[in-house]
Amino acid sequence: MPLVTFVKQDLTVEVPRGANLRQVALDNNIDLYAFPAKLMNCRGRGMCGTCRVKVDDHRALSPRTFVDEQKLGWEGKDYRLACQTQVLGDVAVVTNPRKIAGWMNHPTYERMKEGA
Ligand code: FES
Repeated sequence: MPLVTFVKQDLTVEVPRGANLRQVALDNNIDLYAFPAKLMNCRGRGMCGTCRVKVDDHRALSPRTFVDEQKLGWEGKDYRLACQTQVLGDVAVVTNPRKIAGWMNHPTYERMKEGA
């Protein structure tokens, strides 16, 4: 069975292959959401984007869904929506990761710069 390590919480748990990453976090009292998303998230329906995590190896997870691509596609393969992700192998997860790319690297902004 795969091992999921939550880096910030220093916790490793064994999960069944195919387990939903959001559910694994919630079952282990891992805080996925920053305030106010704690109160106002979509409860795993892939609509809010607040369950965003960073993983060390995206190959240990299910392929990205359409929603993953829409919400996080521009950030790179290691950023995932926990609610859209099944665990297939050992993986380390960082919850509430900082946005390394920033809004200036978003494709929309790139197009704006090219057009200017
Ligand atoms: S909980 Fe809203 S997108 Fe995952």
